Amino acid sequence: MVKENFRSNSMIALQALTDYLEDCENNQIPVIHQRHISEIISDLDLDQFVKDGGMSEVSLQKFLETYLENTTRLHHRHYMAHQVSVPHTLGALGSFINGVTNNAMAIYEMGPSATAIEFFMINWMLEKIGWTPSPIPGTENTKHVQAYGGGVMTHGGSLANLTALTAARSAMFPDVWRDGNPGDIVVLVPEQSHYSLKRTIGIIGLGEKNCISMPADEDGRVLPAQIPALIDKLENNGKRIMAIVGNACGTAAGLYDPLEEIGAICQERKIWFHVDAAHGAGAIVCEEYRHLVRGIRSADSVIWDAHKMFRTPVLCAAVLVKDHHHIEHAFSQEASYLVHDKEQPGIDLMMRAVECTKSGLGLKMFLSLAAMGEKGLCDYISSRNRLAIDAANYINNLDDFECPVMPETCILCFRIGSDNRRQLEIRKILLQNGHYYISTTLYKNARWLRCVLINPDTTLDDLKGLFAEVRKINSELDQN
Ligand SMILES: Cc1ncc(COP(=O)(O)O)c(C=O)c1O
Repeated sequence: MVKENFRSNSMIALQALTDYLEDCENNQIPVIHQRHISEIISDLDLDQFVKDGGMSEVSLQKFLETYLENTTRLHHRHYMAHQVSVPHTLGALGSFINGVTNNAMAIYEMGPSATAIEFFMINWMLEKIGWTPSPIPGTENTKHVQAYGGGVMTHGGSLANLTALTAARSAMFPDVWRDGNPGDIVVLVPEQSHYSLKRTIGIIGLGEKNCISMPADEDGRVLPAQIPALIDKLENNGKRIMAIVGNACGTAAGLYDPLEEIGAICQERKIWFHVDAAHGAGAIVCEEYRHLVRGIRSADSVIWDAHKMFRTPVLCAAVLVKDHHHIEHAFSQEASYLVHDKEQPGIDLMMRAVECTKSGLGLKMFLSLAAMGEKGLCDYISSRNRLAIDAANYINNLDDFECPVMPETCILCFRIGSDNRRQLEIRKILLQNGHYYISTTLYKNARWLRCVLINPDTTLDDLKGLFAEVRKINSELDQN
């Protein structure tokens, strides 16, 4: 007897989601449609269901209809807004399987399959970076391999950045958990770094003012030649540099920093080198783009989001370190009810992560890759990056549009005219119309419209349609 109408309810959900995906493919419905939150709360009958329970098959069907009607359709090929994947449906099943089994696998006994897959995926990423993967615990190999990498999967890149810089701090100050922060630490970040780095520095108590931007070229890429002088200046002022961060790639325009040069400086000055590859980790895997991350092997830590360019459902990221000791000692508190000397056939990942209860994240990433394979993944990444370049070339031949920079990834920034406020007005109307969903960013001291070409089905014709609608909205605004 399967519990609680599992089969029939699942069939209802399966049918509703299949229809949903078909609707997205047909492209006849809006990609985005934002009704007022109070209408959605009311239409979903949330109040009644929470009070009375008893959602029947019929009411589930109706509920799902309303729920899906009010979703933003990432599977629609005019979804070009954010760095959130259009998940492979096999990867999406990973979320479903995790939901049912609920193997919160921070400790091995709570999820042997989930731990085995996370361990395997971490090793796959370590190898792709060019680091030594962890030997399987309890095997002969463990005795021979001395220096090897490690890592853990986290619920998102922000948490991965927090974990990486916590590891950097513990490496530099082993007694930090007992004694607290020394007052003289700074972290050097790219001008174009993601806000989660500044937030991390705030959270770990270093003080946001000690997050220092490095000099950059006109496109915002770190200028390595100027880093030594900055280090000298800070050290002469009594500061100690805990870490230097490189982007692979930046969030706004998707450009890669010169990792090789930054890494060489870090090695010479014995400073922790952290690479934020949340969005751009595809270049680590795909030979065609590997030159963009040249030098990444010299890093001490790397973060990698699978829920961006790896077609994996949210949330799924990883923090990886070249020397496994650093992740094992990142957090030195103990939870004696969970961690004690025990003989077991696997490993506990709990002490590596901020989270105590943790989802089986590896499964989603694994299933997405198992559907595509490495070649399929690289073909997808390459097609998205090429589309961004084709679109930039198209724009550069238009008199009224411009791009601030040639794309290096699937992120394309552009604008019509040069009025910052106008770009925001155009985006607002675009989203109200619901035919296209794009984002916007500040970059090079100006406001840009921004497409993240993450949907595998988006074509150059779709982008030409977007540019035409932008032009039409702009001329209507001119007339008002
Ligand atoms: C470069 C970079 N790092 C970190 C993050 C944060 O990742 P997450 O949204 O998974 O927390 C982002 C998000 O867009 C990013 O672009």
